[in-house]
Amino acid sequence: MLRAIHPIAGVVGFLTILVFWTSTLYSELFATHATVAAVKSTIVSGLFVLVPAMVIVGASGMALGRRRKDAPALAKKKRMPFIAINGLLILVPAAIYLSSKANSGDFDASFYVVQVFELLAGATNLTLMGLSIRDGRAMTARKRNARKK
Ligand code: HEM
Repeated sequence: MLRAIHPIAGVVGFLTILVFWTSTLYSELFATHATVAAVKSTIVSGLFVLVPAMVIVGASGMALGRRRKDAPALAKKKRMPFIAINGLLILVPAAIYLSSKANSGDFDASFYVVQVFELLAGATNLTLMGLSIRDGRAMTARKRNARKK
């Protein structure tokens, strides 16, 4: 059960951030303020998918990998707290702040400063999660190959 849920939650979390990130960049560069505000509201609703997915991937990963000491498992365990802290301390508050500013038409300097930080924090989590997906797939593939021998 955990083994089935873990990669699904991981990929859902990754894709959710990817959609937030690309729609943010696209709307900031090419769309009107009204569209930016709509994107920001949708992102806040999307947190109800992202946050549970990240709690599930972290908890299931730590349970599956509790006793593992191999390099990819250790790397995943080390990355997970950065992903969680980055998400909870930067991405979630930034999403709420930017949505509230955009929906009151307040596109001032602090909006754009926070926007840049949010994009950087999002890119960081996409990179760290991408590495964890790669390591997870390699761990599963190695186990599958060992069984065949
Ligand atoms: C954002 C964080 C994470 C993501 C996106 C993620 C993603 C994945 C993916 C895609 C797989 C491959 C499953 C498959 O191909 O069937 C996997 C497997 C696995 N992950 Fe994670 N993972 C994350 C965090 C963690 C953490 C923190 C641990 C703790 C060590 C962990 C432990 C494992 C284990 C033990 C497996 C199964 C390996 C096996 O089949 O033996 N993961 N993960």
